[in-house]
Amino acid sequence: MLKLIVVSLLLVVVGSDAFTNPIALDAPDPWMVYYKGFYYLIATTWSNYFGIRKSSTLEGLKSVENTVVYTFDGHTGWAPEIHLVDSKWYLYYTSCGPNTTGNACHRNRVAESVGDDPMGPYQHKADLVDDGDPEELDPSLININGKYYLLGSYFVRTQMLYIRELTNPYTLAPGVKQMLSEPTLSWEREGWTVDEGPEPLYHNNRTFVVFSASYCATPNYKLGLLEFVGTDPLNITHWRKYPNPVFQKNESRGVYGPGHNGFFKSPDGTEDWIIYHANNSTDGGCNMQRSSRAQKFTWGADGLPVFGVPEAAGVELQAPSGE
Ligand SMILES: *[C@@H]1O[C@H](CO)[C@@H](O)[C@H](O)[C@H]1NC(C)=O
Ligand SMILES: *[C@@H]1O[C@H](CO)[C@@H](O)[C@H](O)[C@H]1NC(C)=O
Ligand SMILES: *[C@@H]1O[C@H](CO)[C@@H](O)[C@H](O)[C@H]1NC(C)=O
Ligand SMILES: *[C@@H]1O[C@H](CO)[C@@H](O)[C@H](O)[C@H]1NC(C)=O
Ligand SMILES: *[C@@H]1O[C@H](CO)[C@@H](O)[C@H](O)[C@H]1NC(C)=O
Ligand SMILES: *[C@@H]1O[C@H](CO)[C@@H](O)[C@H](O)[C@H]1NC(C)=O
Repeated sequence: MLKLIVVSLLLVVVGSDAFTNPIALDAPDPWMVYYKGFYYLIATTWSNYFGIRKSSTLEGLKSVENTVVYTFDGHTGWAPEIHLVDSKWYLYYTSCGPNTTGNACHRNRVAESVGDDPMGPYQHKADLVDDGDPEELDPSLININGKYYLLGSYFVRTQMLYIRELTNPYTLAPGVKQMLSEPTLSWEREGWTVDEGPEPLYHNNRTFVVFSASYCATPNYKLGLLEFVGTDPLNITHWRKYPNPVFQKNESRGVYGPGHNGFFKSPDGTEDWIIYHANNSTDGGCNMQRSSRAQKFTWGADGLPVFGVPEAAGVELQAPSGE
């Protein structure tokens, strides 16, 4: 009898581990990791600092402060991500340097944590800039066959994705950036021709890049999928672009412009989760008012990610496994 009661109590507790989206307001371009008992959420500020929200539950992220972990010389910081390499966290971001203005001032940079705490503090490590190249944004780090590459977006005749070899997480290798994708399909060309926000995703020895397509100020901002299918990551013909978007707005659920995402694991490591921003109105714009949202995703029999439909704001969802 006692055992039964204990079991039912446990079930009630598990059942109440719920959360609702959005999990952070005014938090576009979100990125999240689960590390040693806590979620760490970092997002765009459009300012000269980045903050992290830290909590042991997704629901708890709503009520914690956005604690400043890094302040830099310059302005208009966005698209931050933190990656753990050899006991240091690397904070990749886009910003404008001091006294620079206009789109051409956008440059990719990386800061380094002093220890192995995701809360930093962080110190500037390197500018990941190829002199003379046009606007660059949305940096990320991918590891393919043991080597590091910088992913990013750049603007030449249109806004495309690039991949750039690194010798370590903060040093550009000799050579130049290579195009990884350009917006040629109709779903990448709504409002403006854009491929941006490339994010690494690994599963069963397969390497994917999920990216954001079309103009961020439209409800049609969405996610597309690339897969590395060859031997040379710097050669675009060794990547496959899947013909259809993999995650997009849902009008009946009132979710518009879902995109610029990150991935994280549930606390027990068994589930894959996506964190992304979206708005609950069609005219949300491409501004700070976009909110961070999270949901679980699965894998199809073909080994491809199945992101499903964005969940509506305010709907109770089961918290990540192990929370
Ligand atoms: C930026 O402009 C200010 C005011 O003109 C000047 O004092 C400062 O040295 C400049 N900084 C850089 C990095 O050029
Ligand atoms: C991944 O690759 C390793 C080394 O080649 C192999 O041992 C393992 O079985 C592979 N796993 C899957 C899920 O394909
Ligand atoms: C890219 O890969 C294709 C197919 O393997 C090959 O024909 C081509 O020469 C490669 N290009 C470069 C610049 O290596
Ligand atoms: C939107 O979500 C509803 C379920 O809430 C689903 O029936 C519909 O197919 C979805 N539409 C799209 C375009 O995914
Ligand atoms: C949309 O989001 C805003 C900000 O969170 C909220 O005030 C508003 O009630 C939401 N509207 C709907 C229809 O959910
Ligand atoms: C959606 O965008 C509008 C307009 O920018 C903003 O007022 C609102 O707070 C946003 N809602 C959410 C949930 O982000």
